[in-house]
Amino acid sequence: MKCNVIISPSSLDELYFTGKTTVVIDVLRASNTIITALSNGAKEIVPVASIEFAVKVSGGMFGGQTLLGGERNTKKIDGFALGNSPLEYTTDIVSGKSIVLFTTNGSRAIAKAKFSENLFICSFSNIAAVAKHLAKLNQDFDILCAGKNNSFSLEDSICAGRLILYMQELDKKLELTDSSNACLALNKTFGKDVLKMLKNSDHGKLLIENGFEEDLIHCSKVNNTKVVPFFRENVVKLMSDKNLSRK
Ligand code: MLT
Repeated sequence: MKCNVIISPSSLDELYFTGKTTVVIDVLRASNTIITALSNGAKEIVPVASIEFAVKVSGGMFGGQTLLGGERNTKKIDGFALGNSPLEYTTDIVSGKSIVLFTTNGSRAIAKAKFSENLFICSFSNIAAVAKHLAKLNQDFDILCAGKNNSFSLEDSICAGRLILYMQELDKKLELTDSSNACLALNKTFGKDVLKMLKNSDHGKLLIENGFEEDLIHCSKVNNTKVVPFFRENVVKLMSDKNLSRK
């Protein structure tokens, strides 16, 4: 297997992902929002690339069973039911619901990678579970970091490095590109204390300023779930082995 890391979605267009196996990482916070919502019984997440499209899509969906969620500049969007704090996505609110999600970087990264053959959503909380599925697939894969405003983000790159570390355990012959090696090194240097790293990151600081410090604690948990969100036919659902596409 070969692993490549894309440090920001801006460098590539949608067609790059056609037929690929892709792992999207947005540690703060879209990956964790999706993982939490699906763990708490949401039926599906519909990631979208614009607020206008979110409103349009939710208008065409089954009323009462659909919620609009997401953020702009970390804050809830006017008219949306939910923001992008994973802590909002509790069982009583999301169970059985379809959630149309727009976020500045995360949902847009997923939308960009929509032509992938296999598309997983990853954060620190489900790294081991994602690694297990990738190993089972046994195909080359790209890790797409959602990044921050079309550029590098420390937390996504470190999470990518941690995933690669797990994959090296599962595939001793895993081939790495330059960006994969760089992420491995970043994880080694900054990844020992995930919460501390998140608090020192640009996006972490912004979230703390806006009152979301609890979210950093939530997003810093490592391997506390086996949930693997999987994108297919425009929606993200929970992964099961029958979803895997083996070429
Ligand atoms: C994003 O997708 O840009 C993030 O999840 C933003 C955030 O809610 O902190």
